[in-house]
Amino acid sequence: MTPDLKIEIAGTKFDNPIMTASGCCGYGEELAKMYPLSKLGALVTKSITAKPRLGHPSPRTAETASGMLNAIGLANVGIDAFVQDKMPFLQEHKTRFIVNVAGSTIQEYVDVCSRLADCGPVDMIELNISCPNVDEGGMEFGANAALTEKAVAAVKKVFPRPLIAKLSPNVTNIVEIALAAEQGGADALSVINSLVGTTLDIDTFRPRLTNNKGGLTGPAIKPVALAMVNRVHEGCSLPIIGIGGISNYSDVVEFMLCGATAVQIGTALFIDPYTPVKIIQDLKQYLKRKKMSSVTELIGQIRKY
Ligand SMILES: Cc1cc2nc3c(=O)[nH]c(=O)nc-3n(C[C@H](O)[C@H](O)[C@H](O)COP(=O)(O)O)c2cc1C
Repeated sequence: MTPDLKIEIAGTKFDNPIMTASGCCGYGEELAKMYPLSKLGALVTKSITAKPRLGHPSPRTAETASGMLNAIGLANVGIDAFVQDKMPFLQEHKTRFIVNVAGSTIQEYVDVCSRLADCGPVDMIELNISCPNVDEGGMEFGANAALTEKAVAAVKKVFPRPLIAKLSPNVTNIVEIALAAEQGGADALSVINSLVGTTLDIDTFRPRLTNNKGGLTGPAIKPVALAMVNRVHEGCSLPIIGIGGISNYSDVVEFMLCGATAVQIGTALFIDPYTPVKIIQDLKQYLKRKKMSSVTELIGQIRKY
């Protein structure tokens, strides 16, 4: 018998738990040249803001010995062009897609999300709350429980479908932020976004990113992400989408054992864009080997000492 890879989050069914992470495959156009997007559990778009953004000047990515640093600066086409030019493409490809939304004020989140509420095919929104809030002097929404709750609650009022809050790992107590998102009305959590880091050129004494710092991603952050997923799983009842350094099926199994219902693949796409498709195949083989009939049997099954 072929094991069942279907999962459900907030009443929405997905063919499998493997999604792409925001910012790592744009709006799906390049991936679609390689394989049908419908093979994915879901595609998560690049963060969309109210107005188009060019992002930070180059260099905005840098390789380090222990992962990739990026400070793209939310370069994106803006909500108007997304709805007009990018969304029809995703619809054509019959893939589930989740729109990631970013903003620097609560009003910006609300404006973008209310626009998306009018678009039938948007399955879910993922709120990137790791952006600096200009009203609050640059403090990240996701670093503050009260702001997290306020932002999620404001969006929930205008977007009646499932809402995911994507949590930042750059906090002291991630469970406190998870509970604030739940209180605000989030239906699920994505855990985690990138970890703040930097890298320097020792000849010029300059940071290797024009933004001076960036977000660390890739396999180096996987152990941090696993621990955070497990903490959130134990402290909050919302379903979790695990993210951070996933590059093969065994990484996915670890995330699900720690409590994730689904996962997203980011940096690994830059190394091999076929990673999600390979993981789906390998995950089926693993479940067969373990004589499991459904991938959901893995969720939260960590056996702690
Ligand atoms: C180049 C790049 C751009 C990213 N852009 C976004 C973004 O626009 N919005 C967002 O929520 N996360 C963004 N992320 C974070 C990823 O979605 C993901 O949370 C992070 O990379 C950790 O997963 P990974 O280790 O599998 O890459 C970006 C990551 C990378 C590497």
